[in-house]
Amino acid sequence: MADEGVGSEGISKISDVLSGSLNGKRARVRGWAYRARASNNLAFIVIRDSSGIIQCAFKKDSVPADVFDKAKGIYVESSLWAEGTVREDSRAPGGFELTCDNIGVICLGEAFPIAKDQSTEFLLDTRHLWLRSQKLTNVMKARYYMLGLLREFFDKEGFFEVAPPIITKAGCEGGSTLFEVNYFGDKAYLTQSSQLYAEIYITALEKVYVLAPSFRAEPSRTVRHLAEYWHLEPEMAFYSNAMNMELQEKMIAYVANNLASRHSDIVKACGQDPAYLASIKAPFERIPYTKAIEIVNANGGKMAWGEDFGADEEALLTKGKSMPVFVHNFPKKIKSFYMRPDPENPETVLNSDMIAPFGHGEIIGGSERIWEYDYLLQRIREENLDVKNYQWYLDLRKYGSVPHSGFGLGIERLVKWMLNLDHIRDAIPFPRTINRVYP
Ligand code: 4AD
Ligand code: MG
Repeated sequence: MADEGVGSEGISKISDVLSGSLNGKRARVRGWAYRARASNNLAFIVIRDSSGIIQCAFKKDSVPADVFDKAKGIYVESSLWAEGTVREDSRAPGGFELTCDNIGVICLGEAFPIAKDQSTEFLLDTRHLWLRSQKLTNVMKARYYMLGLLREFFDKEGFFEVAPPIITKAGCEGGSTLFEVNYFGDKAYLTQSSQLYAEIYITALEKVYVLAPSFRAEPSRTVRHLAEYWHLEPEMAFYSNAMNMELQEKMIAYVANNLASRHSDIVKACGQDPAYLASIKAPFERIPYTKAIEIVNANGGKMAWGEDFGADEEALLTKGKSMPVFVHNFPKKIKSFYMRPDPENPETVLNSDMIAPFGHGEIIGGSERIWEYDYLLQRIREENLDVKNYQWYLDLRKYGSVPHSGFGLGIERLVKWMLNLDHIRDAIPFPRTINRVYP
């Protein structure tokens, strides 16, 4: 099967060929056949590698017969290398073509199962093959750049990245969405959020963040819910929720602006306008929960005080806006046990959700945390949580407790909004949803 293929000696990256620096010179590129078509006298293979795609042309009367036969026999997605002379050609994708006289087939394979116009379900079943598509390749590159920018941002802000456990006994966001794990005969859960553990670290490192998967046994079939998603969770000692919001908007603008300036080609290839991302500037509008309800209702919604926003309400709230907004001071009764009530309005908590525009909805949830022992114990009891699973969390309020705040950013929600994707499943390589855990 294999012709050649180990090592990189003598191989050019396709992006180097497309840069023009090899014009007129010989080059060998290696990768996968993105497109392949042949007539009696001419074979065209578009080869892709991780850096781009290039058209390779084989003319029957100018190459050895066995080379032409191999070129003609290539399937889409066969792996191969091709060698020839780089020529500028305005008709070729990328502006350069390789006029080839040699080819090596690494794995010819079989006819590729994915052709044009496949159903969404089929593409999800063949995700392990569909991930090679240009669309998903570009999204995964953009996602990687965004994660890099987030880490860069927190480095500059003096944060430490820390590692949480994934298996835990302490639920964070309510019992109904916990995935249970049989832990050597004992009952444990996959973490819903690393927040409670991030709160431990602030007593040593002050400003920390976790970037890890969170799990939600969420029975919702929506374009923005995953059962397993990547969660960025910063936690900061001595921060109020007002400071928390300032950090969030600064972070979002940093990622958006730098993604636009450093990776505009990828942003465009994903279907987003880099100018939009470049225009995102702090501060974002701050809307108290009560006012947000009025806006939703004025835009045609039907919400009563005490209800939570669904996707429709979030879309109504951001109608006509192109920047994210904060909704703050939610009713205590619909929020998690750890959120600190607002001393000026104790029926509400010192929290905020960041809502992205254009129907993308909530991307961040954050709050100031209760840091008084007695009150936290009371809230844990009120929510019928098993106190013994939270004893360590309560301990933090006994020994050197300090005011603190933090937030959780859903990475796939961020990617979906920033690249303007229709569905959250395309923001992660292997989406886990209520009816899918394959491949
Ligand atoms: O609002 P949530 O539930 O907040 C928390 O988990 C806090 N403990 C975070 C913290 O303060 N450290 O989740 C935070 C974010 C949401 O705003 C959303 O972006 C994302 O996590 N998220 C989901 N993303 C994809 N699929 C799901 N099922 C999600 N649930 C939440
Ligand atoms: Mg939330």
